[in-house]
Amino acid sequence: YADPSFSDALIAWQQQHGRHALPWQNTRDAYLIWLSEIMLQQTQVSAVLGYYARFLERFPTLRDLAAAPVEDVMAQWSGLGYYTRARNLHKCAQRVVDEYDGVFPSDPALLADLPGIGRSTAAAISAFSSGTRAAIMDGNVKRVFARVFGIDTFPGERKTEEMMWLRAVALLPEQGIESYTQGLMDLGATVCTRSSPACERCPMQTRCVAYATGRTRELPVRKPK
Ligand code: ADE
Repeated sequence: YADPSFSDALIAWQQQHGRHALPWQNTRDAYLIWLSEIMLQQTQVSAVLGYYARFLERFPTLRDLAAAPVEDVMAQWSGLGYYTRARNLHKCAQRVVDEYDGVFPSDPALLADLPGIGRSTAAAISAFSSGTRAAIMDGNVKRVFARVFGIDTFPGERKTEEMMWLRAVALLPEQGIESYTQGLMDLGATVCTRSSPACERCPMQTRCVAYATGRTRELPVRKPK
């Protein structure tokens, strides 16, 4: 599956047309990046922005968060939803303080062992905070892959998901993992959207199986009954 032209095209597009001024960008501070990635699980950027700023005013450092009562963490999270994220966030902060002297590990495998951090979130954190080559795989990436590669099996199925992870790893660029990872997120959020993809401004148009075969609306396939 290795194909440097895929990552080359995505990186060039991200640098020209991607998002560059989100509050968690332009930093390598793992605390700032980790907090954003947890908030962005299951929640859109527009909903996260205000919570992110207020959370950091109340808990400016990882140690402030770890030392706070869990009730204070829950109060700051109130309204954002999926509250297990907030409990895990607090536990994770305490473990990084206790086990890593307050410094997030850069190895994605170690990150993925911490509460609330799965394989994809671990990859995003390590790519953005230390430039580690690791693959992300969320709902947006699954949609982009299903369309570009014409994958017509259900992405929620284990075998399909495993195949997508293999492709994601094989496609990683040698250089520029930060722009590449952000590019996948930006493409899925701003161009290759679920119900109205903007194929006319997609950098993957010429290589997209769904576009070539008129199946953009059918892919990714819905959950089978
Ligand atoms: N969704 C998940 N992570 C993100 C990020 N770093 N920027 C924008 N959207 C995201």
